[in-house]
Amino acid sequence: MNKITDISSLRKVIDNWRQAGESVALVPTMGNLHKGHMNLVSLAHEHAERVVVSLFVNPTQFHPGEDFADYPRTLATDVRRLARSRVDILFAPSTEEMYPEGSEQMTSVSVQALSEIFCGAARPGHFDGVTSVVCRLFNIVAPDVAVFGQKDYQQLVILRRMASDLHIPVKIIAGPTQREKSGLAMSSRNQYLSKEEQKAAPTIYWALADCRQQLLDGQRDFDRLEAEGLDRLHAASLDPEFFAIREAADLSPPQADSRRLVILTAARLGAARLIDNVLVALEPV
Ligand code: PAF
Repeated sequence: MNKITDISSLRKVIDNWRQAGESVALVPTMGNLHKGHMNLVSLAHEHAERVVVSLFVNPTQFHPGEDFADYPRTLATDVRRLARSRVDILFAPSTEEMYPEGSEQMTSVSVQALSEIFCGAARPGHFDGVTSVVCRLFNIVAPDVAVFGQKDYQQLVILRRMASDLHIPVKIIAGPTQREKSGLAMSSRNQYLSKEEQKAAPTIYWALADCRQQLLDGQRDFDRLEAEGLDRLHAASLDPEFFAIREAADLSPPQADSRRLVILTAARLGAARLIDNVLVALEPV
């Protein structure tokens, strides 16, 4: 595996691949790689001949008071894991390389409305930071395919919308959420949980799974289902921000005849903010 930190060297290698007719997949990450990320890498290998993983803890997607300084940075371990999984290039730029003029007055990419609801309401500016850095990565790598985790479902919908609106010719693929045996979605932020909190955290998944089952059983009182989900999280001492049933394609409110839904939730537990979601494919009733 080739570890590259500057854009021009990266472009030279990718140009050579392109001249040889090889396709390229990009897996953007912020490092601290776990099984979930490694599955995204495997998926990338299935879709392209060359795989680039980017590792950049993007300051513009953290707002003041968030965990940017404390975000777990484990470069040496990450490099070993990626080298074992046949990644061609690890692109690990500095902040100066990504934002040469600083980020105060940078060119920003914003997917309006979608970026302001749910996680965007709790973390103002977060998604603008995500779209601004991912747009740069798409311009730098020009991948045929980019792979993101389904766990950050709102991020996925926003990035698809960005690529479509800006005519970026990249196919965005979602990697399924990896879970601990307890049902808890794997996340770099799970390490903020105490032993006691680790026991309560999987409720977030079981509340989603029960809600999905009720939808599959024909229940269509969305307001009631959302209220039940919130109650369940409160009962397990989590502090939920939202528990919402939405159209999977664009997060708009569901209709009685909706077919593809997503149930999304976010909750605080101690120092951690946990997010999770499940998809629901409904049969016509
Ligand atoms: O999902 C993440 O880890 C980040 O939001 C991403 C897509 C790598 C952009 O910094």
